[in-house]
Amino acid sequence: MINRKTQREIELMRCAGNIAAKARSLAGGLVKVGATTQSINKAVHDFIKSQDAIPAFLGYRDYPASICISVNDEVIHGLPSGRKLLRGDVVSIDIGVKKDGLIGDCAATFIAGDGDKDAENLIKITRECFFEALKYARAGNRVSDISRAVQNHAETNGYSVVREYVGHGVGKKVHEAPEVPNFIERPRKKADPRLMPGMTLAIEPMINAGDAEIRVLDDGWTVITADGKNSAHYENTILITENEPEILTLCEDMP
Ligand code: MF3
Ligand code: CO
Repeated sequence: MINRKTQREIELMRCAGNIAAKARSLAGGLVKVGATTQSINKAVHDFIKSQDAIPAFLGYRDYPASICISVNDEVIHGLPSGRKLLRGDVVSIDIGVKKDGLIGDCAATFIAGDGDKDAENLIKITRECFFEALKYARAGNRVSDISRAVQNHAETNGYSVVREYVGHGVGKKVHEAPEVPNFIERPRKKADPRLMPGMTLAIEPMINAGDAEIRVLDDGWTVITADGKNSAHYENTILITENEPEILTLCEDMP
């Protein structure tokens, strides 16, 4: 069942989303050569708490940190650690914030120091995949219209789309119905719901520079590319309306 949010819930999601977006910008500013990934986790954790909000990932399915921070070949769910960032590292940061019972979920990818052209392009195209998808995030369209837009933009640019992890509904819980894949399944096995006003979705392209295939490390969390090539991630929580979609994980100076 796909729930549609009330006006009150939407207002609370704007607030949670704004804190998540600010946390993402803060985190991006801390992606520097020599910074440890756990120092970024701590700064984000402290910021979220300072806003009287809760890091929504901490403890979710026993996840042990407040952010996911995934470097280079790590796709998503990277665990903060003592790892020091090196010049050119491609750093994806994913943040969930719960405020007054509702959640904002967003991510972006940053480069430590100067990156090479390939890394910059991967990050740019991944971000564009989200904004291409956003054009189709309208009442009357279907989830697959979002999926197709992401996949087309990624593959047209020579990249591939992760299959095992998908975007999702979001609200009182981090993951709600529907699933929002970044690819079209052929032949289609699952329902392809129609988008309706009041639905809140996390659209999150996870784009690999090489092949789509992934593996999960023995830590049980970290997802890496099978071919060792870089991956990038970009995500916002959005609201389907009668007209244009609204980005709920919004603040000034968005990545
Ligand atoms: N950021 C993931 C998503 O957007 C959720 C992270 S789950 C956690 O779907 F367990 F890692 F926290
Ligand atoms: Co998400």
